[in-house]
Amino acid sequence: MPERALPVIAVLATGGTIAGAQADATSAGYKAGTFSVNDLLGAVPQLAGIAEIRAEQVANVGSQNMTHDVWRTLAQRVDTLCQDPSVAGIVITHGTDTLEETAYFLSLVNRHDKTVVLVGAMRPATALGAEGPANLYNAVALARHPDARGRGPLVVMNEDIHYAREIQKIASAGLCAFSSPNRGRAGVMHGGVPNFYSRNATTFGEQSEFSLALLEKTGWPRVDIVYAYANLQADLIDFLASAADGIVLAGVGDGNATDLAIEGLRRAADDGVAVVRSSRTGSGFVARDVEVDDAALGFVAARDLNPQKARILLMLALTVTRDPAALQQIFDRY
Ligand code: SIN
Repeated sequence: MPERALPVIAVLATGGTIAGAQADATSAGYKAGTFSVNDLLGAVPQLAGIAEIRAEQVANVGSQNMTHDVWRTLAQRVDTLCQDPSVAGIVITHGTDTLEETAYFLSLVNRHDKTVVLVGAMRPATALGAEGPANLYNAVALARHPDARGRGPLVVMNEDIHYAREIQKIASAGLCAFSSPNRGRAGVMHGGVPNFYSRNATTFGEQSEFSLALLEKTGWPRVDIVYAYANLQADLIDFLASAADGIVLAGVGDGNATDLAIEGLRRAADDGVAVVRSSRTGSGFVARDVEVDDAALGFVAARDLNPQKARILLMLALTVTRDPAALQQIFDRY
């Protein structure tokens, strides 16, 4: 019997702790994005049994330095690889700090249903008990599995599978640093096999009205985030409003802020800056027209998107419309 060919999985590396190195195996300090994609793959010889890997180094940065330029390159590579019939799935290795943002960005601009899996690690590659190799194995196993298809970009960390829209980094250290606090995990990996709990109602794929082409055509709108706290003044908001196309409020509680700050945001909205209210609490729902009169002020409620994801959706939404009512409809759908 001829041997069956293994599925081809493209691995796009961008850096992060998964590729990080320490001075010694027990110290807390390390440098993210030290090892190359080939080093990462070399640490997981078991991959040779489940996939033919095609590796590319797209970047090698700590993901605190993730940029729109790297997102552009990633989105282009993912688009090309999704159209290559010889490629069964795509894995992106990524730092954990902004992994959720890259995953959500790709979920909005990639219109194909081929599986894309993002993966990182909380422990550097040189640490005692580094979990990167197991995470990478699971990512490749997930990317090649038929059950993963059509769910938008997925993230696998610590044997949990998350949807791009739902995942959040919730702790600065430790293995249990990721959660999908509002709608729950997508599933779990067990023995290299995915077990999905549910089909996500918020997978966009072909239905997404956004694209990299649209971003390039209009220019990438500038959207900034203002973090609310006791005694917040409006001068920072006034300053941002002079430069930004959109402002996301990482508000207290239900996306709220001091009267002074709300008044500053109202001025910004009157001047044509899109204003979206999100919450700094880490989970829950920002309701429209409850504590803040969005309709009267021209604001948009982010619903259950956290501020960093609301920033991405607003940036893309501004390539389509600047009308607050139409922006609200987009936030209601995505
Ligand atoms: C980073 O995001 O690149 C550093 C932190 C990590 O990957 O865990």
